[in-house]
Amino acid sequence: MLKNFYIENYGCQMNIYDNEIIISILTKNNLFYVNNIYKADLVLINTCSIREKAEETIYNRLLFLNSIKKKKKFFLLGIIGCMAKRIDSKFFFKKKILDFVIGPDKYRELPNIIKSFNNNDNRYFYNIILSNEETYSDIFPTKLYNYNKVTSFVTISRGCDNMCTFCVVPFTRGRERSKSPNNIIKECNKLYNMGYKEVTLLGQNVDSYLWCKKNHIKKKIIKEKNKTINFSQLLEKISKSLPNMRIRFCTSNPQDMSLDVIKIMKKYDNICKYIHLPVQSGSNRILKLMNRKYTRMEYIKLVELIKNIIPNCSLSYDIITGFCTETEKDHLDTLNIMKYIKYDFGYMFCYSHRKGTYAFKKLKDNVPIIIKKLRLKEIINLQRKHSYLKLKKYINTIQEVLIEGISKKDNNYYFGRNSQNSVIVFPKNKSKIGDLVNVKIISNTSATLIGELKN
Ligand code: 5AD
Ligand code: SF4
Repeated sequence: MLKNFYIENYGCQMNIYDNEIIISILTKNNLFYVNNIYKADLVLINTCSIREKAEETIYNRLLFLNSIKKKKKFFLLGIIGCMAKRIDSKFFFKKKILDFVIGPDKYRELPNIIKSFNNNDNRYFYNIILSNEETYSDIFPTKLYNYNKVTSFVTISRGCDNMCTFCVVPFTRGRERSKSPNNIIKECNKLYNMGYKEVTLLGQNVDSYLWCKKNHIKKKIIKEKNKTINFSQLLEKISKSLPNMRIRFCTSNPQDMSLDVIKIMKKYDNICKYIHLPVQSGSNRILKLMNRKYTRMEYIKLVELIKNIIPNCSLSYDIITGFCTETEKDHLDTLNIMKYIKYDFGYMFCYSHRKGTYAFKKLKDNVPIIIKKLRLKEIINLQRKHSYLKLKKYINTIQEVLIEGISKKDNNYYFGRNSQNSVIVFPKNKSKIGDLVNVKIISNTSATLIGELKN
């Protein structure tokens, strides 16, 4: 009989949240979660497909896991998450490396699969069907990941309808669907009662959150606007019902972000003043090829609107460098938009040509890897400069910090974040994890603020 399961995680916050859902499903079915692979009977790998490197890492890991499985250290090995749809399951089943492959909307099937294996009824399960409805609305995720019980994630929507030409997400995670506001608020409340102090609302594109009782699919309900709840309304409901909980959200999309969302952020102190606003490129030509639905100027206007309404709002971005046909001029446009906006921090990636995407089918991945890496380096260096200068501005100010844990570098220091998402470290003194404290900023690096507690 299979008893203990272990989950290895790759990829984004969505996967961390999904692991908590899986733990909840399996523990209700009398299985035990273990955090040591050698104690497990069943090993699940929650996967990511966003870039080739992520998939390569998992393929390499599979070889290692197969070797320990063969030594009978555990019995079942399954792939779940975004790679489910993309992996050559027939090959891995034939080689007896994998026992099952399950897509992100089919985790409720896991107990049945395990039962079948226990009964010796069946081998090699494959189910990657994606759903048109929010699949796990009624399941409260089991919180194991945040040992400090201070910050947590709540998924508000799944999938994406945007079809950016470089992105596999619409194919691996399916159509966009939103969770009911009641379930979201219930989940946030439960977290608050468990002692959590901060929640991050997760969605591939939170700004297009739209919920209606009748039907979860956005396009079909658009006609019944008066009966729907959009993201700004959801945000207001949550911040009103939990005034002592910090609220963050991720990811925003420039083409869908509304003025209402910015106004609600301004209105409520408990909504953190930080927006992750992926720009992807500063070149109009590339934005068009990427099927991003904004121009460089529209993006800049949105940033100016945000800064006018919430002057202390911090901003971060995603940028892809070396997208199909990107020229030196396009790259300069990207560096220039960074120089104009001066982001607080950012996430930057070399373009990875992904099978199944529009770009893969129709465009040429013609920027040599050496050029992609050179351009990436320039973006990283510029951002480092901006981050340093941005953080320097906090020196001598008092920042309200939610303490999340002990600093990795020094046991005598805590780390936490201010509303703007800057990481701050300071000597512990009499404070404790989970406290909201005032910290006077003394110095900074390009990644961290260093301060001391202020009474
Ligand atoms: N290559 C490189 N980066 C990608 N991203 C998405 N798809 C790709 C790809 N094919 C980046 C985007 C997105 C972030 C989550 O990952 O910048 O915003
Ligand atoms: Fe991918 Fe674009 Fe959707 Fe983001 S908005 S998940 S980049 S398709």
